[in-house]
Amino acid sequence: MSKQNLSRRKIVAANWKMNLDIDEAAEWLGEVGPALKDDDCDVFVFPSSVMIGDLMDMYEGDMLVFGAQNCSHKDSGAYTGEVSAKQLASVGIELVILGHSECREHFGETNEIIKQKLQQAVQNELMPIFCCGEPLEVRNKNEQKNYVKQQLEESLFGFSAAAITDIIIAYEPIWAIGTGLNATPEQAQEMHAFIRAEIAAKYSNEIAQQIRILYGGSCKPTNAKELFACADVDGGLIGGASLNPKDFLAIIRAL
Ligand code: PGA
Repeated sequence: MSKQNLSRRKIVAANWKMNLDIDEAAEWLGEVGPALKDDDCDVFVFPSSVMIGDLMDMYEGDMLVFGAQNCSHKDSGAYTGEVSAKQLASVGIELVILGHSECREHFGETNEIIKQKLQQAVQNELMPIFCCGEPLEVRNKNEQKNYVKQQLEESLFGFSAAAITDIIIAYEPIWAIGTGLNATPEQAQEMHAFIRAEIAAKYSNEIAQQIRILYGGSCKPTNAKELFACADVDGGLIGGASLNPKDFLAIIRAL
């Protein structure tokens, strides 16, 4: 996988969350794998960690890149149940989702913890997808920009310019995740442009133009095309709709 994003190659990423057992996952792979041809985008899949190795062994193509849905903020030690970035890298995993709103909500991940997870990922040469996005009550008060700005500042903006270009960002408004209620293209574009402008202000416009910013939140075949058409939307992080191979392939085709 190239780490050079100079042309901001688009991404469609499947976040399976805690879904699919190994047989169902193998079936998914059997359907999606051969259907990926020369799609002009990167296609990532994030299964549960326990089965990534098996799926990597099963997959015969070179279009799909496998990643983990989380990693520990610690290097190693007495952290029962955790998986370190180093362990993921040691089995050939190249990507990791960090800061997903479900981990923030259910496991109490703070901006500080997510910063430490990002550091672990970067040190171990995993490419992180850093998730940010506001809950409904923040959106209702029209404070989403300040909210996301704080997430960026507290987790991301301590990284060097060299490190930041290898981090992918996913803007995922929490009110849109798994609700069937997606952001409109205007809402998505406004927030993506805002995030890019913040990166430009912190680093440089050149760096901001290289960073890929994905949209996530009820992205499906019926709305993917209009969301992906937005100038600052570089693809999608797909939850529910990624479980169905046909829907996932239709979203890829929407690019
Ligand atoms: P969703 O999830 O597509 O089911 O809304 C997106 C995500 O959580 O990454």
